[in-house]
Amino acid sequence: MKIVDKYFRRINRLRISVTELCNLRCIYCRPENGLALSEHKDILTYEEIATVVQHAVMLGIKSFRLTGGEPLVRRGIENLLCMLGKIQGVEDLAITTNGIYLKNYAKLLKENGLVRLNISLDSLEETKFERVTRGGKLKDVLDGIEEVLTLGFKNTKINVVAMKGINDDEFEEFARLTLERDLEVRFIEYMAMNKESLASEDKFIPMSDIIDIIERNNDLIALPPPMLGSGAAKVYKIKGAMGTLGFVSAVSQPFCGSCNRLRLTSDGKLRSCLLSGGEVDLKAILRNNPTEEILTDAFIRAANLKPSVHAGKGHVVMHQVGG
Ligand code: 5AD
Ligand code: SF4
Repeated sequence: MKIVDKYFRRINRLRISVTELCNLRCIYCRPENGLALSEHKDILTYEEIATVVQHAVMLGIKSFRLTGGEPLVRRGIENLLCMLGKIQGVEDLAITTNGIYLKNYAKLLKENGLVRLNISLDSLEETKFERVTRGGKLKDVLDGIEEVLTLGFKNTKINVVAMKGINDDEFEEFARLTLERDLEVRFIEYMAMNKESLASEDKFIPMSDIIDIIERNNDLIALPPPMLGSGAAKVYKIKGAMGTLGFVSAVSQPFCGSCNRLRLTSDGKLRSCLLSGGEVDLKAILRNNPTEEILTDAFIRAANLKPSVHAGKGHVVMHQVGG
C-alpha cells in the first residue's frame, strides 16, 4: 500500500520531532528568553514512535529523519535509532542536529544504525556563532563535523540559514568547505518567524542572490537531483570540489508541488505541512489501542490535509516541527 495525497503527491518520508527542547536558542528559531514549554509535556514514548514508524513502513514510507528541538538532548536517543533500525523496510535513517553534542555522540549513533546527518551551522566565526545561537561554542560543532567525517558517514549536510547582514559575508567560505571535504553545504532561505510577509523580512536573501555571491569567484556546475535525500535542494558543485552545494528555496520558489513528507511532532500530532495545513492527533489514537485500519486512516487523513501550496505567511513554530 502507498499513500498518495489528493494532489497526487506520493508520501514517502516522515520527519519525527523527538523533543521541543534545545540546548541553543538560535535567533531565527527561538525567542531570546526561551520558550514557555510545559515541563512535563506529554511526548510520545520511543515505543510509540516505533509503532508509528512500523505502520508508516507498511504505507510505503521508507525514509525517516529525527529532529527536535535538538534530538540529541533527549535521553537514550541511540536506543530509538536502534529500535527503528531493526524495523524491516526502514531504508534511510537520518538526523538533524545542531552538532553541539556530536563529537562524543557520533560513534554511538553510527553503531545504532544512523545512516546520515544534517548539521546546522550558520557562522564560521566564533563570536558570531555565539551570537546567532545565543551561547553555542563553534568548536563543539566543528569537532563534531570532523568526527562524523572520520567515522566515514556519507551524504553529510551542513545547513546554513542565509541571513542578510549576518552571514552573507561568509557564503564563499562556507562554499569552499566543500573543496576538500565530502560534505554538502546547504544554503537555506531564511523564513521569517512572524506573521509578516516572508519575503519582506529584512534578513531574507533569495537563493538566486546567494548563488550570485558564490559564483563571483567560483565556477559552479549544476548536478542532477540526487536519488536519496534529494528533498527540495538544487545541487551544484564547485569545479573540482570533493563535496557539493545545495540550495533550498522554500520561500522564493516553494517546492510544495513535489513535497513528499509528513511530520510527527514530539507530542504526537501528525502534521501535513511545515507552514500550513492541518494535523491529526495521532497520540490520542495510539493510546486508544488502535487497529491497523485506524492507523492507516490517520495517515491518509493527514496526507489529505496537505495544502497544494503553503500559504507563504503562516506562523512557523520551528521548534515544534524541527525545520
Ligand atoms: N528559517 C529557515 N530555516 C530554519 N530552520 C529553523 N528555523 C528556520 C528559519 N526561521 C532550519 C534550519 C536549521 C534547522 C534546524 O531548521 O535549516 O538548520
Ligand atoms: Fe535549537 Fe535548531 Fe532551533 Fe537552533 S535552530 S535553537 S539548534 S532547534
